[in-house]
Amino acid sequence: MPQIPQTLHELTVGQLSARSGAAVSALHFYEAKGLITSSRTSGNQRRYTRDALRRVAFVRAAQRVGIPLATIREALAELPEERTPNRDDWARLSEAWRSELDERIRQLARLRDHLTDCIGCGCLSLETCVLSNPDDISGERISGSRLMPEGRAAGKA
Ligand code: FES
Repeated sequence: MPQIPQTLHELTVGQLSARSGAAVSALHFYEAKGLITSSRTSGNQRRYTRDALRRVAFVRAAQRVGIPLATIREALAELPEERTPNRDDWARLSEAWRSELDERIRQLARLRDHLTDCIGCGCLSLETCVLSNPDDISGERISGSRLMPEGRAAGKA
């Protein structure tokens, strides 16, 4: 694991990539999307402040749980640009995000817990469908399945 000396406050894109585990192309993409920022040397090379490591880690973790980039960018925009975000800044972001994350946890638990039962999708392929979705009555009310929360059933995601 590449170590970045504590004395080093500005990172090259290669150092940021090596330590964060994100490809250089991904870092360029994050920068183009306004998720991280860099300064330029007189030779026009990118330099990142050390806290870019935490931002990249945050972006990658949020992406892994399916949070859209636009939502991630809005959250990161809450952080101060003019100084390194501190614990309180991240706590504020985390609080603002709590409901979004709780909703995702609820959806994931719902998916985990309902996959063995009829989900009202219209397939009528499980024995339980006969009981909870006879003749696909769900189809009269929704498109999609009961796993999809109201409003998302009609592709309004
Ligand atoms: S699982 Fe599809 S209708 Fe029951």
